[in-house]
Parts: sequence; C-alpha cells; structure tokens
Amino acid sequence: MDTANIQEIRDGARLGVISGVTTNPSLAASEGIGNAQDYKAAVQEISDLVDGPISVEVVSQDAPGMVAEGREIAEWIPNPWVKIPSTPAGFEAISILARDGIKINQTLCFSTNQALLGAQAGSTAVSPFVGRLDDIGHQGMQMVAEIVSIFRSYDIKTLVLAASIRHTLHCTMAAQAGADIATVPYKVLLQMAQHPLTDAGMARFQADWEKAGKS
Ligand code: G3P
Repeated sequence: MDTANIQEIRDGARLGVISGVTTNPSLAASEGIGNAQDYKAAVQEISDLVDGPISVEVVSQDAPGMVAEGREIAEWIPNPWVKIPSTPAGFEAISILARDGIKINQTLCFSTNQALLGAQAGSTAVSPFVGRLDDIGHQGMQMVAEIVSIFRSYDIKTLVLAASIRHTLHCTMAAQAGADIATVPYKVLLQMAQHPLTDAGMARFQADWEKAGKS
C-alpha cells in the first residue's frame, strides 16, 4: 500500500494481501506529519501493523544529509527501506547506505537509465513512477517493462516496484510487465477486490438460497 494513513493500513492489512507499505513526504504531510519525530512515530505504528518492508523517505537533497537521515531511519523499525531520490546526490547516498547494508527504495525514477544507475549503486528496489509519466503523455508502464527486461537480461537482483499507480488497470499491467511489486493506494486496492458481477452473483445466490428455504 502507498499511504501513510493508519486506518487505511489497518483496513488494507485485514485483507491479507499487503506485503509492505510505501510512504513519502507528501503522503505523510497529508496526515499532518511535518517533522522527523512525528514521521518516526507514524512509521513505527505502521510497522506494528504490517510485517513487510516499510519505505520511509529522506527529505535532505544532498548526499551527506541523505546518508545521515538514512542511517537514522534504519534504526526506527525492524524492516525499513530508506527512500532515496533518483538524483546524482541520491546515487552517491545509495552507494554508501547500500555498503552499510541498509535497504534502499530508489524513488522518483522516471527513466530506465536512472534505474540502471540505481541498480549499479545498490538499490534494493527501484520505483518507476508510472502515473506521473502517464500524466504527461508518456506510457509509464512501457518503462517498467523495459527495466524488467534489462534487469532479467543481466540477472540484476534489484526489484522493480511499480509506483504512482492510478487505477486497477495499472495493477494488471504492472504484473504483465513483470514488476516484482506494485505500491497501490487504498482506494485502488479496494477497486481491485471488487466487481459488479461478483456482487450480482452473491445477490443471486442469496436470493435463491432464501427462496428455497421458504419452499
Ligand atoms: O509513493 C510513491 C508514489 O507511489 C507516489 O505516487 O500518486 O504521488 O504519483 P503519486
């Protein structure tokens, strides 16, 4: 799930299909979080709800600041993935933090070349932002498929985490493209689970069952 909303995470976790949570400064800010102390508290609460990796983003923009933040975040919870942006300073920070053994979710990835550099630097996962590319008229999922294809060709272990998911078709397409993970807003997760024909079928079964019970 792609959210910092605790109730959404509680509700999503109950479905039994969540393998982790990704957050970012905007998602945190939408929950009223604007400092490291509150972010830490929220991330620790999330970590208590979901066993999988929790992605927590640095806000520094220079390498030393990212490295310092990443090392601090790595101590917050049992399974942190530190989110580092796909910038020159970010690759420098990724290469240092990866050598520390800290897991990295390389975020704000908008090109295959950024994904390649991140894999070389040591990213655990790279997050191509599909929706934001679609928003400007590109076909974001084609980049996901290209990254997956190249990573497979060279047996690159970095995971491909499809991000900026806008709708249920993105979820299907991410799977078709071979993405290892998709990070999904709660609203889209529910839409994945629901279908009008399933609802109609349930209603029909119930009506037939109740009708037979009265005969
Ligand atoms: O959290 C990373 C990414 O999923 C954000 O997506 O919707 O802000 O483009 P979005």
